[in-house]
Amino acid sequence: MTAPVGFCSETRPDSCGVVLFGATGDLAARRIIPALAGLCGKGLAPRNFYALFVGRTPLDRPAFEARLAAAAAGAGGRCARALLARARYLRADYDSPAFYRELSAALDALDAEHGVEKKRLFYLATPPSAFEPIALRLKDAGLLSEPGGGAHWSRIIIEKPYGSSLESACALDSGLKKAVPESQIYRIDHFTGKETVQNILALRAANPLFEETWNARFLDHVQITVFEELGVEGRASFFERMGLARDMMSHILQLAAVTAMDLPEGFRDSQFKEQKRRFFASVPKPGPGEAAGFVRGQYAGYAGEPGVAQGSTTETFLAFRLLVENDRWRGVPFYIRAGKKAGRKRTRIDLAYKKPSSGAFSGTDAGYSNVFTLNIQPREDLSLSMVTKHPGPKQCFTPRAMNLAYREHAEEAGAPDDYERLLLEAMAGDQTLFLGDFEMKFLWDYLSPVLKAWEAPGAPLHLYPDGSAGPAAADALLERDGRRWF
Ligand SMILES: NC(=O)c1ccc[n+]([C@@H]2O[C@H](COP(=O)([O-])OP(=O)(O)OC[C@H]3O[C@@H](n4cnc5c(N)ncnc54)[C@H](OP(=O)(O)O)[C@@H]3O)[C@@H](O)[C@H]2O)c1
Repeated sequence: MTAPVGFCSETRPDSCGVVLFGATGDLAARRIIPALAGLCGKGLAPRNFYALFVGRTPLDRPAFEARLAAAAAGAGGRCARALLARARYLRADYDSPAFYRELSAALDALDAEHGVEKKRLFYLATPPSAFEPIALRLKDAGLLSEPGGGAHWSRIIIEKPYGSSLESACALDSGLKKAVPESQIYRIDHFTGKETVQNILALRAANPLFEETWNARFLDHVQITVFEELGVEGRASFFERMGLARDMMSHILQLAAVTAMDLPEGFRDSQFKEQKRRFFASVPKPGPGEAAGFVRGQYAGYAGEPGVAQGSTTETFLAFRLLVENDRWRGVPFYIRAGKKAGRKRTRIDLAYKKPSSGAFSGTDAGYSNVFTLNIQPREDLSLSMVTKHPGPKQCFTPRAMNLAYREHAEEAGAPDDYERLLLEAMAGDQTLFLGDFEMKFLWDYLSPVLKAWEAPGAPLHLYPDGSAGPAAADALLERDGRRWF
């Protein structure tokens, strides 16, 4: 076992009940139920805890148990049983005030049974159109008030994508805020819950080797890659409406932010958010010319996917250059690409250090001496490439890499995964890892000119072979600057 070094803090979730709306849906089954089961089975959930699953589908206890067990199976039978022991299902009629009275009574009974005192996390895993009506009804039923000087609390969790345009995102936000203030809204982007993403800031804060060189003096450029092996996989109707840019931009910007923001003095809430806010303020929104330069791609097999409209111009690939106008980053471009059916699944960040300007290695065309690669998923490791002397009598250079596998230590095996971690943070009332309203606003301010440029007649849509790393236009984006993708 390796002991943690120095500073060490742990998230302590408050006793509470989780109320999952849309409990019969895809997100609930694939991510939220396994995470709740994982928390129960790993002993990470608060001791006083319960989960109330809510949906319009009628389910008796055996049918509910069968669904829950199936969804939680990936977390292991022990975890599934641990969750089942604290779980109940309630059939919903969202339009009826009587349902909210029933919900309120059920929550009071569960509070009493599990030793919880009006501390509730309402997870809205329904289509976004249901967020505002459900939140307003919860408010009318008195379920969102927080009397008791902090002793009682109510929080709402929602998932990205937050709207499909600046206007719809603002409408969604102001609708929710009719029911609750910002301090009670937790916007999930599960990338922020990934260990490897959080490790970026820890690595910078604790290792001067990196933080001292994490700037325009030493770095040539940064690359961010978010590739998926799969295509739309039966979600074409959702994807046709959203496209990759709307779907992925939140993940991309979160990765850019933790890479580029100045280090906060503390890793909690307001200081962290302030640094993120400053980072976003230093990223200029694309003007019409730059917006037109965003590469829009589509995998060749997309047109034949069931549910895809004939002649669809929906993008499944995006590449662009993001600039950061502050003293740390001025002159260091961030090249970003994301795509579906883009070969191997991989999310990684590469920081390319400047080439040596003097000495024996300068002037050679052997690429970058030092590239620091952070593999976020599915590989979770760090590697630093460097140039060393080739062994033997000849004086020549050879590239090598130092690797650090992130989860190689046994104590990390029981660590919470992304959704588990974010649920714990929400139970602890810490909004650090959740997106603030300013981030959501930035996302749409940044993306809107691009979406507008793509709507113009004749805007290019670059096809790329299924399983490739995207269209040639994405390569040209870097080649123009004398660089190439790693
Ligand atoms: N699925 C994903 O991978 C994913 C990824 C990222 C974000 N999200 C977001 O997460 C949320 C849930 O996604 P999902 O894919 O699970 O959605 P979904 O399967 O379409 O819907 C979830 C559940 O919501 C209920 N529902 C459907 N329409 C409703 C309505 N008009 N009012 C109230 N309840 C309704 C349904 O359950 P009942 O009929 O039983 O009530 C349904 O099973 C959405 O906001 C989505 O944008 C999903």
